[in-house]
Amino acid sequence: MTGFPARRPRRLRSSPAVRRLVAEHALIPAHLVLPVFVREGAEPQPIASMPGVAQQTLESLPAVVDEAARAGLGGVMLFGVPDHRDAEGSGACDPDGILNRAIRVAADAAAGRLTVQADLCLDEFTDHGHCGVLAADGTVDNDATLAIYRRMAVAQAEAGADLLGLSGMMDGQVAAVRSALDEAGHADVLLLAYSAKYASAFYGPFRDAVASTLTGDRRTYQLDPANGREGQFEAVLDEDEGADIVMVKPAGPYLDVLTRVAERSAVPVWAYQVSGEYTMIETAAAHGFIDRERAIGETLIGIRRAGADAILTYWAIEVAGWLRDGRTLG
Ligand code: PBG
Repeated sequence: MTGFPARRPRRLRSSPAVRRLVAEHALIPAHLVLPVFVREGAEPQPIASMPGVAQQTLESLPAVVDEAARAGLGGVMLFGVPDHRDAEGSGACDPDGILNRAIRVAADAAAGRLTVQADLCLDEFTDHGHCGVLAADGTVDNDATLAIYRRMAVAQAEAGADLLGLSGMMDGQVAAVRSALDEAGHADVLLLAYSAKYASAFYGPFRDAVASTLTGDRRTYQLDPANGREGQFEAVLDEDEGADIVMVKPAGPYLDVLTRVAERSAVPVWAYQVSGEYTMIETAAAHGFIDRERAIGETLIGIRRAGADAILTYWAIEVAGWLRDGRTLG
């Protein structure tokens, strides 16, 4: 019979029920992680560059953790916003530093319902805003920074963190932190390596969120956006050093890197949909230029399709609600 297409792929798109039946990818709330900023002081503070996101406080944090747990999220990733910063970032290792206190409060509120995750990096704690300490010539001193990360890791584990997110991009950080934890009796704490973390303009709103003091940039330690192979190499190194999970960050502009890492990795691969990715959609949607919910869903399912097992996103709680209502994304 001529005149008829031999194959009609449109049949698989003919109704919502069929489309749902043949969807290749889906998300569940357990595979979403909510980043949470915690500042000192009593009142939560809206973040101007991230409409809808606030800096929480030790007082407001339990309610956020509880909401995240009831939404079925896999975890919360905590970032500290200290009042005082110094050259060494000493607040990071202080058990009474804001992040370590926040971990304790969150672990209490979570009560095992979700994982409590902590950012392990010095940039929020240093007065110069770099992710490590500086050598005399002003460069970021890799090995001196590792010694501090080791102490920071033990402090976070002792505060009750289930998982530490190593986001500083220092060479050897996974092995250094793993051995420090093992020696201190914290062999059970998970390590998430921000393996392929790119020097990105999309962190702009986050720097506002943590009141970053950085001048200059992070190009001597974060990856060059031009390099995909190097991102994959970093993930391989981190896996060899003992990372339990590796991550690509940002997500949207680096989906190719995510796919490469996911194809090779023996451990779970996560992606971080960062502040700039969030703010672009919120801002465009606020102007009525884009369908907010469809755009959010499309970015998340795209990240999943590219190979992410779990995703850090500022929309985690809202999207978990959609998923519970049985909505498909995109
Ligand atoms: C570093 C860190 C950054 C982000 C997460 N961890 C900022 C940076 O490297 O400049 C960015 C997250 C975001 O933009 O949402 N501690």
